[in-house]
Amino acid sequence: MRILVTGGAGFIGSNFIRYVLSAHENWYVVNLDKLTYAGNLENLSDIAPDPRYTFVHGDIADKTLITQLLSANTFDAIANFAAESHVDRSIHDATPFIETNIQGTHVLLDAARAHGVKRFLQVSTDEVYGTLGSDEPPFTEHAPLAPNSPYAASKAAADLLARTYYHTFGLPVLITRCSNNYGPYQFPEKLIPLMITNALEGRPFPVYGDGLNIRDWIHVLDHCRALEAVLLGGVPGEVYNIGGSCELTNLEVVRSILQTLDLPESLITFVPDRPGHDRRYAIDASKIKAALGWKPQYRFQEWLPEVVRWYKEHREWWQRVKAGSYRQYYARQYEQRLNRNDFKRDVI
Ligand code: NAD
Ligand code: DAU
Repeated sequence: MRILVTGGAGFIGSNFIRYVLSAHENWYVVNLDKLTYAGNLENLSDIAPDPRYTFVHGDIADKTLITQLLSANTFDAIANFAAESHVDRSIHDATPFIETNIQGTHVLLDAARAHGVKRFLQVSTDEVYGTLGSDEPPFTEHAPLAPNSPYAASKAAADLLARTYYHTFGLPVLITRCSNNYGPYQFPEKLIPLMITNALEGRPFPVYGDGLNIRDWIHVLDHCRALEAVLLGGVPGEVYNIGGSCELTNLEVVRSILQTLDLPESLITFVPDRPGHDRRYAIDASKIKAALGWKPQYRFQEWLPEVVRWYKEHREWWQRVKAGSYRQYYARQYEQRLNRNDFKRDVI
């Protein structure tokens, strides 16, 4: 399998690349990433020397680059992780969300169609379904799309655009909608890594509103295993929900982190709520379980302490990220390696 992964320097993409290269000897990955604030080559520094891995610095919305890349290579699959991914940032400014999540996905879909790519995996999100009431059943793939934030709307637009490329042009599109991920290398703007790193710095835990919003947590490696299953066995044109069946309020999550680190609840600070804050997400993942035999393996109560340990042991990683210095640090390394031709530019 020769696969183009976009957004592979981010949280889920980097975990996915590490996972598939260790699980499949004969998989080759080209990672195309714009290296926005969320893209960090350090996430893949252990993988960089692997001859089956190539990094290309670029934007999925850059039509010329994408055409060049797909003309120079035959990809069996494209897995599109590249996105602006943080809801709060989309409330502040939706522009990059429209450019990357919608326009970028459009460029990739057109190029995949023109070059006859055999599998196009669109990594979508459960946020496209909007919010659930406390008594409602979890979202199935048939739930209507009702996004409530600019981020969710941009992902819903990309998801629907991908669907049309299957129905109108016969592009073998696969769409996945996953719930909230946690795990190593998550950017510390998201709830769990923000709270863990704040705890390790002795800073308060800013909980939005009353802290009773519910998210359905899944370990990132369970998400990666599900994406692998969909790439290998999914039926084109189908949507697959992915979730950990682990609904927790934000306060429950935050209290588990405090308990793991033996810290007092007085660190919790209630702050003004996120505008338009979705109350509850929950995913019904029965379809992927029945159709592809996938099920989650990592239980939150067992694995949250492992993830806390990872952040304790990778203090330099998140300190560089929080300080913003990872960008200069890796930009320098990138230039040096480019000069030594480590990045195998022959793919474009
Ligand atoms: P992330 O923000 O950690 O990483 C995004 C990556 O995309 C970064 O490396 C960034 O540099 C890259 N990128 C951004 N714009 C780009 C562009 N125009 N061209 C090329 N690369 C670009 O995000 P994540 O949490 O790893 O999420 C990955 C995907 O999974 C996203 O599509 C997101 O919507 C989806 N998703 C995330 C979650 C979650 O809980 N984090 C859950 C379900 C789905
Ligand atoms: O559901 C999948 C989605 O999960 C993905 O599509 C998104 O890319 C990902 O960012 C995530 O979105 P959320 O908005 O659910 O994640 P976030 O970590 O930002 O927030 C989780 C919950 O915690 C949410 O109810 C808001 C709350 N929160 C978040 C932060 C950053 C706080 O209370 N305090 C905070 O400081």
